[in-house]
Amino acid sequence: MEYKSSTKTGCVAGAELMRSGVTLKRWFWCGLFVLHFVSLVSADEIRIKAKVGESVFLPCCHEIPSTKSLHDYRVYWQTDQDVVLAYSSGDLLKRSEKYVNRTKMDQNNLTMSLFPVKLSDKDQYKCIVQQKGSTAGYHVLCEKIVLLDVVVDYSKPLISADIQSPCGSSEVMVTCLSHGGYPLPRVSGVLNNESVEWSTEISKTSPYNVTATLQLNVTDDSTLTCIIEYDNFEVSSNYTLRKQNECLPLLTPPSHGVIIACLVLICIFLVAIILLLKYVWCRAREHVQCSHYPVPQDPAVVTKMKKDVSGDLCEVTLEAASD
Ligand SMILES: *[C@@H]1O[C@H](CO)[C@@H](O)[C@H](O)[C@H]1NC(C)=O
Ligand SMILES: *[C@@H]1O[C@H](CO)[C@@H](O)[C@H](O)[C@H]1NC(C)=O
Ligand SMILES: *[C@@H]1O[C@H](CO)[C@@H](O)[C@H](O)[C@H]1NC(C)=O
Ligand SMILES: *[C@@H]1O[C@H](CO)[C@@H](O)[C@H](O)[C@H]1NC(C)=O
Ligand SMILES: *[C@@H]1O[C@H](CO)[C@@H](O)[C@H](O)[C@H]1NC(C)=O
Repeated sequence: MEYKSSTKTGCVAGAELMRSGVTLKRWFWCGLFVLHFVSLVSADEIRIKAKVGESVFLPCCHEIPSTKSLHDYRVYWQTDQDVVLAYSSGDLLKRSEKYVNRTKMDQNNLTMSLFPVKLSDKDQYKCIVQQKGSTAGYHVLCEKIVLLDVVVDYSKPLISADIQSPCGSSEVMVTCLSHGGYPLPRVSGVLNNESVEWSTEISKTSPYNVTATLQLNVTDDSTLTCIIEYDNFEVSSNYTLRKQNECLPLLTPPSHGVIIACLVLICIFLVAIILLLKYVWCRAREHVQCSHYPVPQDPAVVTKMKKDVSGDLCEVTLEAASD
């Protein structure tokens, strides 16, 4: 890449900031930007990809020979807005707040490492190497532009199905959720080996959240896959959609006929219990009253007794006892 002018460097913005009353310190800071109004040094450009949380190495364009040291150079690592690192005569002049404790430069090959990578580190970085000349001045040795792409993994998709109508219908609304990724994703789907189109909704701000929905008629057990592709990566999940069963009678509320039948059964049971209790009670009474009663000889007494003791069973037993 032919690098001719850099009028859009931070100094222009810096000058504007000065005018708007920002401190002199800022102006000094701005002074670290290296300006080349007419430079014919061709800047080598490479693209590097990094995942958030990992370390990345941004190579520069010069390796200091063993006969020399960093003292003979000025090295700038900068973006359009910021000086990431600036070394002059071996000393670290400045390190931007944004990158403090996250950068390191190799003192020989000038490779800058950045760790851990953040989403906001996605930028265009430029390494500029100046060498001390035999006279007082420095001259540009080389420049390198490193375009840093940052990738954030999307979460494994979460698929859920919502049966929309009561049983009997085959309509199902399927939702596929994945969150926290970068760059923008492409969502695709496969249903039983055939591609399906999701209707997707993506959050406005990054890292992005994706919500994909799909309306389906499930007439057979089928397998649905939701695939989230981003950069050269992808995450996916499978989901088994079951054919909906016919309505089961057990699931419907019992009819009046069933309720009445139950009530009749309960009544019969209660009557049976009452009869049984009555029988037991009679037997007990007979034992207490009848057996210890002196056996009457007079038929009149027997008749009177018959009236005293209720229940046919008792009467029968009493008669049997009096025989
Ligand atoms: C720079 O040197 C370091 C070791 O000091 C090495 O790990 C790295 O690969 C080198 N980078 C290049 C671009 O040569
Ligand atoms: C950088 O590291 C130093 C020493 O470990 C620590 O004192 C300082 O607070 C750190 N700065 C930031 C911004 O994390
Ligand atoms: C799925 O489709 C591919 C081609 O699209 C075919 O080769 C493969 O046999 C199919 N698999 C099934 C199980 O139908
Ligand atoms: C994305 O989803 C995560 C987790 O579900 C949530 O914390 C975050 O607020 C969401 N972000 C946006 C922009 O909706
Ligand atoms: C599902 O089937 C119903 C009728 O059986 C139809 O009205 C509806 O459009 C179908 N839905 C899809 C997504 O194919």
